[in-house]
Amino acid sequence: MVKSEPQPSRGVFAARVRSNRRLCDEHYLLRLEVGTDFPLTQAGQFVQVQCAPVNGAEGPIVHEWGEKGPPPQFQSPELVESQVLLRRPFSLAGREEIGGRTVLDIIHRVVGRGSARLAALAEGQTVSLLGPLGNAFTWDADTKLAVLVGGGVGLPPMLYLAERLHQAGKPALAYAGVTSANLLPLSLDAAVPASKAGWPSLCVREFARWGVQTTISTDDGSLGYTGRISQALFDWIDQGRIVAAGTIVYTCGPERMMRAVAEGCLARGFACQVAMERKMACGMGACQSCVCKTRAQNPLGWQYSLVCTDGTVFDARQILWE
Ligand SMILES: Cc1cc2nc3c(=O)[nH]c(=O)nc-3n(C[C@H](O)[C@H](O)[C@H](O)COP(=O)(O)OP(=O)(O)OC[C@H]3O[C@@H](n4cnc5c(N)ncnc54)[C@H](O)[C@@H]3O)c2cc1C
Ligand code: FES
Repeated sequence: MVKSEPQPSRGVFAARVRSNRRLCDEHYLLRLEVGTDFPLTQAGQFVQVQCAPVNGAEGPIVHEWGEKGPPPQFQSPELVESQVLLRRPFSLAGREEIGGRTVLDIIHRVVGRGSARLAALAEGQTVSLLGPLGNAFTWDADTKLAVLVGGGVGLPPMLYLAERLHQAGKPALAYAGVTSANLLPLSLDAAVPASKAGWPSLCVREFARWGVQTTISTDDGSLGYTGRISQALFDWIDQGRIVAAGTIVYTCGPERMMRAVAEGCLARGFACQVAMERKMACGMGACQSCVCKTRAQNPLGWQYSLVCTDGTVFDARQILWE
């Protein structure tokens, strides 16, 4: 398991929507303001968001019971619509201190009812947020190069990691994979084309601001390298452009992608950390809904680890992929 610094307190916070902007088809950047008392955060951590405003337009449900008249016809969405009861987990894509407030960035893809409600949040509304949760990506004094490999909704934590690595003075490269150009939740620099051959460049503004060159891949060839992002990375490594000594590969995204990245990296002698994602209910180690199999020194040779509290970040050598 990856051991990051002991975590300071976590808590439930009221977060005000500062802005909510569409980035591409299906992805939104939600900027949430919390007080500066929000605990310290690290790249790789996540928050559990209640996907409905606590100050929604519908207001409290009031009905005066009388002896006569028809039965009440409740119209409030709280009663007539099915609810999103459980909080939903989202990685931190960034954190900024602005005007005496702390701003947390979440980039989310609309895949169901909860994320659709997040997409509909308006500036000034308030959501309840639990966090920060989970451990974090780590590096040490021997780390000479960090390689950040994100696929789809695994890209947001890579943005925060790029910032933290920059602050730590660690050079980094980014690999960003999506199925098609219209699902890339990042902004491109029109003056710097994404290389079709998979050469890293300062083509993605969000990484370029931290001096990080990026390779983009799309499955359908609509932007950058055509094919899997893991293949783009291994093409580059196998040309001898990156050496294993002093390099750590960090990855987050669909499990099939992370597995390909992790297995390929370990086979080539690279250190690799994976940020696992599972369906989560509590996010705090209570419900046991988020297990993954990890290696263990016991007669079975494996155990179940909780992604929410033992992870989400694991040393790739620990994971038993299923
Ligand atoms: C630690 C962690 C960090 C995450 N970070 C991000 C992020 O930064 N951006 C982002 O867009 N998404 C992220 N996700 C995924 C996000 O939590 C889910 O997409 C969200 O919970 C879906 O809620 P929903 O109500 O919209 O969809 P639901 O109606 O609950 O489900 C819609 C579909 O999405 C699938 N689904 C739901 N949760 C997950 C999950 N955890 N993993 C895989 N499939 C799921 C369901 O099986 C279903 O097919 C993260 C998940 C975890 C565990
Ligand atoms: S989400 Fe409940 S134990 Fe991990």
